[in-house]
Amino acid sequence: MVRSYFTHDNWMEEQADGGVPLYDDCYVEDLRTLKLAPWAMRGCDAAFIRFTDMGGVTEARVQEIPAGGTLKPFKLGVDEMVYVLNGRGFASVWGRSTEVRRDFEWSAKSVFIIPRNSWCELRNMEGDRPVRLLHFNYLPIAMSVISDPAFFFNNPETTGSLIDDADANFFSEAKDIVKEFGSAWGSVGGQVWRGNFYPDLLAWDKLVESRGRGAGGGSVYMYVPGSEMSCHMSVFPAYTYKKAHRHGPGRLIVIPGGDGFSIMWPQGGEDDKKIYRWHEGSALTPPDQWFHQHFNLGDKPARYLALHPPVQFIGKEQDAQGNSTEVNIDYVDEDPWIRQVFEEELGKRNLTTGMPDVCYTDPDYQFKSLSAS
Ligand SMILES: [Fe+2]
Repeated sequence: MVRSYFTHDNWMEEQADGGVPLYDDCYVEDLRTLKLAPWAMRGCDAAFIRFTDMGGVTEARVQEIPAGGTLKPFKLGVDEMVYVLNGRGFASVWGRSTEVRRDFEWSAKSVFIIPRNSWCELRNMEGDRPVRLLHFNYLPIAMSVISDPAFFFNNPETTGSLIDDADANFFSEAKDIVKEFGSAWGSVGGQVWRGNFYPDLLAWDKLVESRGRGAGGGSVYMYVPGSEMSCHMSVFPAYTYKKAHRHGPGRLIVIPGGDGFSIMWPQGGEDDKKIYRWHEGSALTPPDQWFHQHFNLGDKPARYLALHPPVQFIGKEQDAQGNSTEVNIDYVDEDPWIRQVFEEELGKRNLTTGMPDVCYTDPDYQFKSLSAS
């Protein structure tokens, strides 16, 4: 086999040689049913998904815990964000000493963080079915800096963990704060959330209006204490769609709930537009600088969770003042085929669009805000 350039790719391909599936794609229709296989390192069924252009940037893998089962404790040298695809379970996290151990329950659509260099034991609390977790981290970047994979797995030399000095609330529900720090995700002065545990992203209703992307959608930005990891969830109304935009690589989108599709195409590839249908458990990544656009066919607001790469890969353009800015295509400028496809898809279900005609002619049209309703 021809090996890749990045240490992390080589390491992943070694795991694949050992039997763990390694998928290369920009889309998985349902992570809950993706075919997994035993992975000796973790003692569970797993699969890696090297979503397009995520190589060398972010890692995504699915792990399964059998019915009533417990995975052996594991210590990873980088922070890891976990999204619960289904089921219900229990996590125990400790650092230098098991005396400072934090335990918490998670369930479908929770997000939690396993802090770097802490031991974590994951248990399935349901006796009749396996649970599946989506794990996401910046290990590819870390392995580019320290090109020794063994350094990151159960390394007895790395003993310091955030959990060592953690208070009892380390995994309590996240708290809202006013963003006064300089990361490019979310606007300075806006409301964001900070914490290591987000119990249910399908129920989360604390949204901030995200006017720039159209359709009256709202979003919530989630930050991790003591880490550069972050993510956001975007929510947009029934029978509407967001503006197309593009940015850098390494973002992973997973769908907590909804029914719709996305269209993606490369810059200059107007004729290469492709439709990706999604529902709960679907995942996709917009390849580097590809335009992408999300469409809600459902009768409820649709939700997608976007797991962020390191902020160096945000890949937005800079305006004259040097601020990062989105590269959007306004509705008035979009290919008419976009609107046509959306209305055709709705028509197949005897539904009509929630997009007002005026948004296609008035660039200043303001949608009613979902978060204000
Ligand atoms: Fe995007």
